[in-house]
Amino acid sequence: MNNAIEVENLTKYYEKFLAVDHINFTVEQGEIFGFLGPNGAGKTTTQRMLTTLLTPTEGRILINGHDLSRDSYPAKRQIGLVPEESNVYTELTAWDNLMFTASIYRVSRGERAKRAEELLQTFGLWEKRDIKAENFSKGMRRRLSIAMAIIHKPALLFLDEPTPGLDAQSIRAIWELIRRMNVEGTTVFITTHQIEEANQLCGRVAIISHGKIAAIDTPERLKADFRRVQSVEVALESKTSEILEISEVSWDSLPGVTTQVKVGDKMRLYTEDPSALLPRVVQYAESHALRIVSLNTLGPSLEDVFLEITGGQVGTVIKETQENSPRRKGMGGRK
Ligand SMILES: Nc1ncnc2c1ncn2[C@@H]1O[C@H](COP(=O)(O)OP(=O)(O)OP(=O)(O)O)[C@@H](O)[C@H]1O
Ligand SMILES: [Mg+2]
Repeated sequence: MNNAIEVENLTKYYEKFLAVDHINFTVEQGEIFGFLGPNGAGKTTTQRMLTTLLTPTEGRILINGHDLSRDSYPAKRQIGLVPEESNVYTELTAWDNLMFTASIYRVSRGERAKRAEELLQTFGLWEKRDIKAENFSKGMRRRLSIAMAIIHKPALLFLDEPTPGLDAQSIRAIWELIRRMNVEGTTVFITTHQIEEANQLCGRVAIISHGKIAAIDTPERLKADFRRVQSVEVALESKTSEILEISEVSWDSLPGVTTQVKVGDKMRLYTEDPSALLPRVVQYAESHALRIVSLNTLGPSLEDVFLEITGGQVGTVIKETQENSPRRKGMGGRK
């Protein structure tokens, strides 16, 4: 099978600033490939180079076998792009946005109306086709932007952070559209800093940080590689008085706990071996007149993996049990 994208040594300097640092990866045809990284990691810069909008400082990009530096025209025709900033013309109706984009992509006149109707129906915008996009909600604009990106039936669709600022229902609707396009044969390259988006959509994920790829694998294998970020989560109450502040309990004496994080009314104890830790927690509770309200083992989440790779902060969090520890912030703050 041909690779949809092959990247060798791809590098971008903005003046002296190294934004993308000699990265290598391939995306197979038919994949949904995620580029996951924090703000400023180099995601948009990479995607702009892959879509011919930006010239690399160094390195080689092949799109469906076409070298972009020599032979970009055939590649361009096979690419659709949903950029980070909206490219919808707000003063035009949904219908006119699609007609205009179709003409730019040289979709034949006969095809344009048929394709636009099909897309507006699929994207739930058919009833709104004659309304100017300036009157659209953010979610509707995003859907229109995706419809515009695929009006010419590209084999390869790039999406740069397709869902920030949208409500849960709109996010799910967009994920569903992306999945459907993929099932119908479109290869998808998506950049995101939302872990759940990568987890939900991507067959493989590259984690990018400071312009470098730190890891590439399936979400499940990335999690498996990070067994050390497994945890046991416990909620306790005192057998004598009802109320117990979880952070008052000292876990320092429990062997095997690498880090402690307070999550709401629970304590999350990170460990490499949850099954060994469980009986110790039970024993500890009994010997301190504490009742266990809940006790769960948690596998590593992609978020744990991401924080471990990009933040490298886990070591500093180890002894922190405060609500404002860096790990706790990461868990709540990125959604
Ligand atoms: N035109 C530019 N000139 C100079 N520096 C730039 C330019 N564009 C981006 N950068 C810098 O390159 C780095 C990577 O930026 P990029 O937009 O690729 O990050 P990103 O991963 O897409 O971030 P975000 O999640 O915020 O969209 C950042 O430090 C940014 O400030
Ligand atoms: Mg970006």
